[in-house]
Amino acid sequence: MRLGILGSGSGSNMQAILDAIEDGTLDAEIVLVLSDNPGAFILDRATSNGIPAGIIDCQGFKSKFPDEVQADTARRLLEAGVDIVCLAGFMRLVKRPLLDVFPGRILNIHPSLLPDFPGIDAWKQALAAGATEAGCTVHYVDEGMDTGPVICQARVPVFPDDTPESLHARIQIEEHRLYPVAITLVADAL
Ligand code: GAR
Repeated sequence: MRLGILGSGSGSNMQAILDAIEDGTLDAEIVLVLSDNPGAFILDRATSNGIPAGIIDCQGFKSKFPDEVQADTARRLLEAGVDIVCLAGFMRLVKRPLLDVFPGRILNIHPSLLPDFPGIDAWKQALAAGATEAGCTVHYVDEGMDTGPVICQARVPVFPDDTPESLHARIQIEEHRLYPVAITLVADAL
């Protein structure tokens, strides 16, 4: 499986996918990493691991992912021979131009037990709602925000003294375990 990764931030999930490939638990290869954030650490991680990396230029829009930019992103992923696209902390909504090119082949990881707490800073939403359990979800991407069919989930407890940081860190441990498992499930079903 040839993976393309889109991310906007630190890229710890990309690193976990890479680690799973290297230790032989995930039969795949990361062939391209793209980020809409030129300063994102995910780009440094990619280049220091010898993975081709590039910037998605969203033309100054803060959160919009313009159609023509999505079409160009799809072209770059196709040119790299990508089979499965993994969103790993990618903070823009993917829509038709990109979804149409990779039907059923775009995955996202989200730091909540969807359908609870879609959107930004899900772990803060869970704390604010007084949840006693949190977790993460890998799901297929559709046109909604964190609404596509769930592939798998992992649960973590919320403790009374949790801060947003401590809860997110506990969720991320599970994210790093879950994403490679989900990719294997999807690859096996293709
Ligand atoms: C992860 O916690 C991921 O679940 C979240 O961003 C973080 C990225 O971390 N994604 C979302 O909230 C998407 N709605 P990373 O850059 O270290 O992988």
